[in-house]
Amino acid sequence: MIKIAPSILAADPLNLERDARRMMAAGCDWLHVDVMDAHFVPNLAFSPDAVRRLAEIAAVPLDVHLMMDEPEKYIGVFLDAGADRLTIHAEANGDPGAMLREIHRRGARTGLAIKPGTGTERVAPWMGETDLILTMTVEPGFGGQQLEEPVLDKIAELRRMGYRGEIEADGGINEQNLPRLIEKGLSVAVMGTALFHAADPAEMMVRLHAMGAGVPEK
Ligand code: DX5
Ligand code: ZN
Repeated sequence: MIKIAPSILAADPLNLERDARRMMAAGCDWLHVDVMDAHFVPNLAFSPDAVRRLAEIAAVPLDVHLMMDEPEKYIGVFLDAGADRLTIHAEANGDPGAMLREIHRRGARTGLAIKPGTGTERVAPWMGETDLILTMTVEPGFGGQQLEEPVLDKIAELRRMGYRGEIEADGGINEQNLPRLIEKGLSVAVMGTALFHAADPAEMMVRLHAMGAGVPEK
């Protein structure tokens, strides 16, 4: 079944616990935490302490997405804070393979992300080492953007290349475009604006899960 990971970037910063609990009560599979360093992306978001407090209430895995130039320095920090899954960008500084192995060594699941303009060749060397590949469907940094259609072809390409792990997309996903992403091979949808602005997130989550009833568990 398609997994839904609400992005708390779209939550009310003054009511983070309330909004996280609402999404978990609505039936989300993971909570997606966008960490931004104001260098790799032109925005700043979520500290290790925010992750630590979220981990204290989280009844679902914390899927932490490091949008930073120097992720190597923060792998231990965010894993100690309680991240269950840690995604680094292939475009960041450092050796992706070494970082993925370090995340695994510490008992967490890995993710390797690429921006819309980055080709699948940048993740190909580590397809056998990462639990998840994140194909950003917007330029990272801000919620509420339009999904970039060409990324759908990258999802299908990764499946054609034989990748059988989780493929996650993040940015601009809604009820209208999710079926096409699933058809290409998506297994995890990060949703911020569409979910947090929904009149009834629980009802919407039922409809979203029904779209991907056929997606095999990874
Ligand atoms: C971009 C962010 C967004 C956010 C979700 O760096 O990662 O993709 O999580 O965006 P929306 O609000 O478009 O679902
Ligand atoms: Zn993200």
